[in-house]
Amino acid sequence: MITVILIFSAYLLGSISFAVVASWLFKLPDPRSYGSGNPGATNVLRTGKKVAAAVTLLGDAGKGWVAVVVAKYLGNVLGLGDEVIASAALAVFLGHLFPIFLAFKGGKGVATSAGILLGLNLWLGILAILTWIIVALVSRISSLSALLSALLAPLYTYFLLQKEMLTITVLIISILLILKHQSNIANLIAGKETRIGKSS
Ligand code: G3P
Repeated sequence: MITVILIFSAYLLGSISFAVVASWLFKLPDPRSYGSGNPGATNVLRTGKKVAAAVTLLGDAGKGWVAVVVAKYLGNVLGLGDEVIASAALAVFLGHLFPIFLAFKGGKGVATSAGILLGLNLWLGILAILTWIIVALVSRISSLSALLSALLAPLYTYFLLQKEMLTITVLIISILLILKHQSNIANLIAGKETRIGKSS
């Protein structure tokens, strides 16, 4: 029962879009109405309001981290296996991608996956974020940085955690993240993807 409550709570937590919350707080337009239309930190940054983008990033990453850390704690206390951590990680991620509060049309999962990885293992999260930063410094393209980081995240998980279930969980998260970036991939191939902070 406690596992069902945890999974349901993780999904609801994931469904909170911090892009929408931050935009409301800072009196910005709805992020689904401009730029890429994605409710995420990269798109909020296109308004030029860096603080709102930072709140989006921290909120979306924070909810991924919280779901995994709570699942880890409960798993330890109740003597449950990695299934509970894997379920909570997937539930919070699916909440972000398909939020009940936004008619199931959510974000692409980059910040939330970073929070999940940080919750699973600090070094795993740092490695994935460093990958994002290095690609971003070279390319200035947020989606490309996220895609390369997502491709490498399952490998990092496999070598750092050496746990089959958590590696498969991260692999599923990466596949979903990549599927959510289809329009970005098309833009990258066409050489039309916008640079970080630019609106076109
Ligand atoms: O955080 C999502 C990022 O990878 C792409 O965002 O707005 O350029 O589609 P966007």
